[in-house]
Amino acid sequence: MPRSQEPTIDATRPRPAAVITGASAGFGVEFARRFADRGYDVVLVARRRAPMDALATELEAAHGITAHVVPLDLTDADAAARLLARVDELGLDVRALVNNAGFGTYGAFAEADPARIAQEISLNVTAVTLLSRLFLPGLLAAGDGILVNVASTAAYQPGPYLAVYAATKAYVRSLTEALWQETRGTGLTVLALAPGPTQTEFFEAAGSEKFKVGQMLPVPEVVDVAFRALDRRNTPPSVVAGYRNRVTAVAAGLLPRRLTLAVAGRLTGE
Ligand SMILES: NC(=O)c1ccc[n+]([C@@H]2O[C@H](COP(=O)([O-])OP(=O)(O)OC[C@H]3O[C@@H](n4cnc5c(N)ncnc54)[C@H](OP(=O)(O)O)[C@@H]3O)[C@@H](O)[C@H]2O)c1
Repeated sequence: MPRSQEPTIDATRPRPAAVITGASAGFGVEFARRFADRGYDVVLVARRRAPMDALATELEAAHGITAHVVPLDLTDADAAARLLARVDELGLDVRALVNNAGFGTYGAFAEADPARIAQEISLNVTAVTLLSRLFLPGLLAAGDGILVNVASTAAYQPGPYLAVYAATKAYVRSLTEALWQETRGTGLTVLALAPGPTQTEFFEAAGSEKFKVGQMLPVPEVVDVAFRALDRRNTPPSVVAGYRNRVTAVAAGLLPRRLTLAVAGRLTGE
């Protein structure tokens, strides 16, 4: 039984390509492996070239696909446009986009570095929005396109001491769910993935282990959750990885806001 999102074999079309941001570490590496395993060429995007070159070599050898490495700082003002121009130049049939690159910051908002806040919003919000916008027409035209935006369990309640991060992820979830509705019936599959705390380079970048709130799953299990959702006939607008994380997300929406904030504050407070 073929999986519904596997690329259709059509000799008249080039191989499908998946663009994955944040492909030098963590979830992005696993997303690239899964798409390559499904026969997609991959476009690996992040700032660090060396780990992406190594991944490209691995994927080309293991799966016989072509892996393109595009070193790019997605907080640059013209990054989204440059990435689209690059895939056009390569002549790729982009049928999947995974907006995965993102980072968090831990600490009291009153003491946060304004420049870092701007970077965080630029990567987690602006780049996700503009890449979704610029790639959407092509993904829609593909007829079987996939758009995955990586949110977080932090999207389901405000995050004291990770206020900006939680707000950016609430935005990603909201944007993605709206796009899910707008594109219903077009053949495009849209999904917001909400991982719980997962051992990647994320905590190092965030400067704190305080982000480790909730059920921890290994990276491959989190990405499995995304692909299982994508393979469903009726992909949901968003999916939370981990049963206990799903229960917490639902509870956060049902409890009085003061209580949700008090619990969140106790878990992530300094
Ligand atoms: N790990 C968790 O606990 C967790 C939980 C929920 C959600 N998430 C979300 O999952 C996504 C992936 O994070 P991860 O856990 O895999 O963390 P990670 O291991 O730190 O990976 C982050 C990726 O984003 C890239 N990136 C960072 N800044 C960038 C920039 N300015 N331009 C381009 N690429 C950039 C990094 O590559 P370079 O440094 O090479 O640029 C790296 O490839 C993020 O959106 C994160 O918010 C993570």
